[in-house]
Amino acid sequence: MGSIKIVTDVPGPRSSALAAAAPAWVARPVAPDPTSVAIARGEGAMVEDVDGNRYLDLTGGLGCLAVGHSHPKVVDAIREQATRFLHTDYSVIPYDLYQRLAEAVSQHCGGGRKVAFFNSGAEAIENAVKIARAVTGRPGIICFEGAFHGRTNLTLALTQREVPYKQGFGPFAPEVYRLPYPGFEGATMESFEKAAREVFAAHDIAAAVVEPQLGEGGFVVPPPEFLPLLKWFTKEFGALLVVDEIQTGYGRTGMFLASERRAVRPDLVALGKSIASGLPLSAVAGEPDLMDALNPGTLGGTYVGNPVALAAGIAVLEVIDEGHLVERAKRLGELITTGWTAIASAAPGLIGDIRGLGSMVGVEFRDREVLARLRATAMQLGVLTVTAGKEAKVLRHLIPLVITDDELAEAFAVFNEAAAAAAVAAV
Ligand SMILES: Cc1ncc(COP(=O)(O)O)c(C=O)c1O
Repeated sequence: MGSIKIVTDVPGPRSSALAAAAPAWVARPVAPDPTSVAIARGEGAMVEDVDGNRYLDLTGGLGCLAVGHSHPKVVDAIREQATRFLHTDYSVIPYDLYQRLAEAVSQHCGGGRKVAFFNSGAEAIENAVKIARAVTGRPGIICFEGAFHGRTNLTLALTQREVPYKQGFGPFAPEVYRLPYPGFEGATMESFEKAAREVFAAHDIAAAVVEPQLGEGGFVVPPPEFLPLLKWFTKEFGALLVVDEIQTGYGRTGMFLASERRAVRPDLVALGKSIASGLPLSAVAGEPDLMDALNPGTLGGTYVGNPVALAAGIAVLEVIDEGHLVERAKRLGELITTGWTAIASAAPGLIGDIRGLGSMVGVEFRDREVLARLRATAMQLGVLTVTAGKEAKVLRHLIPLVITDDELAEAFAVFNEAAAAAAVAAV
């Protein structure tokens, strides 16, 4: 596709026209950012917009594109499956794709797992909670400060941020208890442990649901001992550990699951996002006795385990394995961290923190306006980015793991220029 091109009229006239026309038919709550560029096509880590401009896409479909845009192997698998059949309902007329991907997911999640597929990340979390409650016979669910687990009623109860996610949408599901997340807004291991002791002892807890690194909440990495201690608490009090690997999974952190980095085997793992390269698919993978505890027909849904999405999912895992993308994520993380460390020392006062596991690096700026300016300049120079955290002060990297070293170097040339401009404007 060639390299990025510097443009000054971003978004261009066609993107702007689309943005202007959308409100006539598109509901406001789902409207895109009017300053975004509209995509015509994507390939690997590249996006071409409707005006013919090319960009490096470091937003990676908000974490869905570990194998990049329209990977040929994934596209072939989708095309092939679409010509055979689009849908039956696995529970009525089954197909082997389901068990093939279940086996592959199980093997990638430590082995010895059983797997159920759903449509979205939120649905995976909902179903993990259903399983945990049914198996333990208890109602309580523990979640964390800074958490994001989805936008359905139960997952909104687990999600913390009021605006824009929760405000006006209550009442939310009951029996949800929120604990401090060490590293998030001053919480420490001590404050977590104290609160955990109280909550586990005082309530009938079915499960703790946790992100191994906060995603939407600001790419906060808790201390290495956090997840093992949470695992200890759940085991000690007869509850299950549900790890939400929807954003951290699929190799992004340098291991297939981020929880592996802490040598923790969750009872249930929720997967989504990169699982089918953006097609609607998610999964719960768990210990067989838990996954088999419920009767046939108790979990499901019209579209769950759609054959086209499953075919894409099988291809995604092949691409990840053949391209050694999990190891690649580790290397990308080093390159990204080195790049931003150099920018931080060239422009003192600009950046407060650089953190993350593997390629899932977050760069916290001291001032949100400075970051906003930097992102706008980066877009003009051909790099698309996304933020995280309540104050939108964290630049988060959700890059396609297929990005080349040259492309990443191009992105950093842009970041250097954009950071210098943002720093000058800040003075
Ligand atoms: C950690 C985490 N959990 C759950 C979800 C919800 O997934 P979905 O939007 O597919 O429902 C997300 C989505 O961003 C997420 O990042």
